[in-house]
Amino acid sequence: MMKTNYTMQLSLLVSLIFILCSFNQITSVFAAEENQEHDHNLMTYIVHVKKSENVASFQSEDLHSWYHSFLPQNFPHKHRMVFSYRHVASGFAVKLTPEEAKSLQEKDGILLARPERTLSLHTTHSPTFLGLKHGQGLWNDDNLGKGVIIGVIDSGIFPSHPSFNDEGMPPPPAKWKGHCEFNGTKICNNKLIGARSLVKSTIQEPPFENIFHGTHTAAEAAGRFIKDASVFGNAKGVAAGMAPNAHLAIYKVCNDKIECPESAILAAMDIAIEDGVDVLSLSLGLGSLPFFEDPIAIGAFAATKNGVFVSCSAGNSGPEYSTLSNEAPWILTVGASTIDRKIVASAKLGNGEEYEGETLFQPKDFPQQLFPLVYAGSLGYGNQTQNQSLCLPGSLKNIDLSGKVVLCDIGEDVSTFVKGQEVLNANGVAVILVNSESDGFSTFATAHVLPAVEVSYAAGLTIKDYINSTYNPTATLLFKGTVIGDSLAPSVVSFSSRGPSQQSPGILKPDIIGPGVNILAAWPVSIDNKTPPFAITSGTSMSCPHLSGIAALIKSSHPDWSPAAIKSAIMTTANTLNLGGIPILDQRLSPADVFATGAGHVNPVKANDPGLVYDIQPEDYVPYLCGLGYTDQEIELIAQWVVNCSNVKSIPEAQLNYPSFSILLGSDSQYYTRTLTNVGLANSTYRVELEVPLALGMSVNPSEITFNEVNEKVSYSVDFIPKTKESRGNNTYAQGSLTWVSDKHAVRIPISVIFM
Ligand SMILES: *[C@@H]1O[C@H](CO)[C@@H](O)[C@H](O)[C@H]1NC(C)=O
Ligand SMILES: *[C@@H]1O[C@H](CO)[C@@H](O)[C@H](O)[C@H]1NC(C)=O
Ligand SMILES: *[C@@H]1O[C@H](CO)[C@@H](O)[C@H](O)[C@H]1NC(C)=O
Ligand SMILES: *[C@@H]1O[C@H](CO)[C@@H](O)[C@H](O)[C@H]1NC(C)=O
Ligand SMILES: *[C@@H]1O[C@H](CO)[C@@H](O)[C@H](O)[C@H]1NC(C)=O
Ligand SMILES: *[C@@H]1O[C@H](CO)[C@@H](O)[C@H](O)[C@H]1NC(C)=O
Ligand SMILES: *[C@@H]1O[C@H](CO)[C@@H](O)[C@H](O)[C@H]1NC(C)=O
Repeated sequence: MMKTNYTMQLSLLVSLIFILCSFNQITSVFAAEENQEHDHNLMTYIVHVKKSENVASFQSEDLHSWYHSFLPQNFPHKHRMVFSYRHVASGFAVKLTPEEAKSLQEKDGILLARPERTLSLHTTHSPTFLGLKHGQGLWNDDNLGKGVIIGVIDSGIFPSHPSFNDEGMPPPPAKWKGHCEFNGTKICNNKLIGARSLVKSTIQEPPFENIFHGTHTAAEAAGRFIKDASVFGNAKGVAAGMAPNAHLAIYKVCNDKIECPESAILAAMDIAIEDGVDVLSLSLGLGSLPFFEDPIAIGAFAATKNGVFVSCSAGNSGPEYSTLSNEAPWILTVGASTIDRKIVASAKLGNGEEYEGETLFQPKDFPQQLFPLVYAGSLGYGNQTQNQSLCLPGSLKNIDLSGKVVLCDIGEDVSTFVKGQEVLNANGVAVILVNSESDGFSTFATAHVLPAVEVSYAAGLTIKDYINSTYNPTATLLFKGTVIGDSLAPSVVSFSSRGPSQQSPGILKPDIIGPGVNILAAWPVSIDNKTPPFAITSGTSMSCPHLSGIAALIKSSHPDWSPAAIKSAIMTTANTLNLGGIPILDQRLSPADVFATGAGHVNPVKANDPGLVYDIQPEDYVPYLCGLGYTDQEIELIAQWVVNCSNVKSIPEAQLNYPSFSILLGSDSQYYTRTLTNVGLANSTYRVELEVPLALGMSVNPSEITFNEVNEKVSYSVDFIPKTKESRGNNTYAQGSLTWVSDKHAVRIPISVIFM
């Protein structure tokens, strides 16, 4: 009885996983096109040209012919020109041989020609499936993002999903200039107002998605309310994105091989700006790059100049330090944290001890009896021990584990799903998957082909001790379903990338954390053909669109706020405590530092009414970029302005009017100013409260500020004064905060200090 039940669920899971994997075999559309060209030396180059005074007035045709004029006569433009850019760059993407690129680079008026790179999506764990209460981030506001357009740059969309219905939604605002490239009527609607594909192929294909990432991220940002989002009859609830009434514009930039070329990303940002989006959401990245070489930083600067808010994933390369993507200060960089819902199972040992963990696969009829327990790593088959401890494919071949519960270590390379398959092939009855040391206590609810539970590294050590200390170790698994109210939530998850920023250590990054673990949202297909199509995934790919949706909500209530003001509102109101009322923890269950949390966990309701904001105008970034030591030409690539740093009063990074401080402190004091803008009550008085970092003196002047008007600006100064080396102990960094407090508001910015 038990077996048939599994088999039904399992075959569904397996077929969907297979669908995901099999895309790797599909021939790239790019490859197909290159074959046609009969030249394997061709690569797509991003070419930046010196800006012409007249560009602003150019029609598209003028722009194209101006760009074409840089290329040799008889150049096969039609086949080789990939994209012309207007907003994000003065330049174009073109297919060239290395020789052609070299001679182009030497031409007058060419700033830079470099081969493009491919970005990757920021989802880590295999998508998994189960319906659950959403419950997170529903914000009962009248507007729910009304009138705001969110552009999602991702892998496309599955447009007929119920999350994108337009019941009761008004038409897009008059400024909207975008298109819908789906064939046929009634595909785009007042919810999904635009969809374009920037994936170049021989035939122009509509922006449907095949890898399921874009549908999920779009729904997280702005999915409609969907009742009874449940699968297998499990937990029921309402699913919704953060801004259910915002409009969505989709820009597909990733092909079916999950390759997202930077020429397409630049094109998508260029078109989205032209189309009139208000918010851009990008759950992808390239790692840390100088801003003038980072397509997202370049595109986001143009977006910011046009008043468009840009939210990006921080990356999934944690928990090590300095592992961020998308570090530019004009971007909101979003890390990932848990929500208070877990899908729980536990490993119960023969000695009565129980260790809680997570799994999505929750068989109702797993026998409550103890089975013999073995650690795959002590089966002892010579040179296979290492591979067996990880239950790698093939490592348990010819071994009979019938009737046994098997303990496997989780390594980096292979998904836990595949490890479970290996144990099932060896006839194991269940698997206990033990986190690697770096994953600590971060567990994930994922799909499995047999009864399974993922437990913490610490639990794994204890279970291994038990196995060693007992002649006949035994265990069973207990399945407990969905549990809401984890008081440790939010906690920073192991994979969430950490600061400090490599490109600009004087700006604290990430900026914020938001929900990114076991997130339920739209999925193109139903898992059992009966219940609505939803899936659970984890990644900073998931936390980024949450913040995009929240930015849309704020933009809807404050249409005149700049991108920097919206970012400030989100950061200065963030929560620093978890639901249990203690400082937010990380994957080790230690207090998370500011390089993991940034300002803290987003609090949408408070972010809508911050009292004060730290505003930044686009031109304020130029003295900052000069201060970073970039050349005039490098700044021109980013800003699209002719810049001469000798005539600009450059500033140190920490002097940018950013809603946080990241100080690299030697033996000298440092002095900075910040400017507050009053967006709360006209007459309000704030006084400063400091949490002074260890081994540091701080003074703030003035310590009390009275505002008499809305939008009034007042500046204050901060001194950071080092104390003796001895007073730091062995600490290499310290953290604190600076908060302006009134009767109604607390406007907090975090401070990190790295001792040099
Ligand atoms: C779109 O519609 C046009 C005209 O109806 C048709 O020729 C074309 O093949 C369609 N394209 C796709 C991708 O379905
Ligand atoms: C592992 O040991 C087996 C048997 O001794 C041998 O045939 C095989 O080549 C070894 N494999 C590796 C990778 O060393
Ligand atoms: C262990 O697994 C890896 C990856 O599958 C494989 O390359 C290696 O040969 C295996 N080691 C042994 C000893 O079989
Ligand atoms: C268990 O015992 C084996 C051999 O007796 C030893 O190699 C191993 O390190 C022990 N493991 C633990 C977790 O103590
Ligand atoms: C930048 O300004 C300095 C000082 O005014 C001037 O000497 C220099 O020629 C300018 N550089 C460029 C490239 O215009
Ligand atoms: C703010 O205070 C000024 C004088 O201190 C007063 O004239 C003004 O009416 C007040 N504004 C509001 C909105 O209360
Ligand atoms: C600092 O590190 C040294 C050497 O590791 C150690 O002996 C000392 O106790 C540490 N001091 C403090 C305050 O932790």
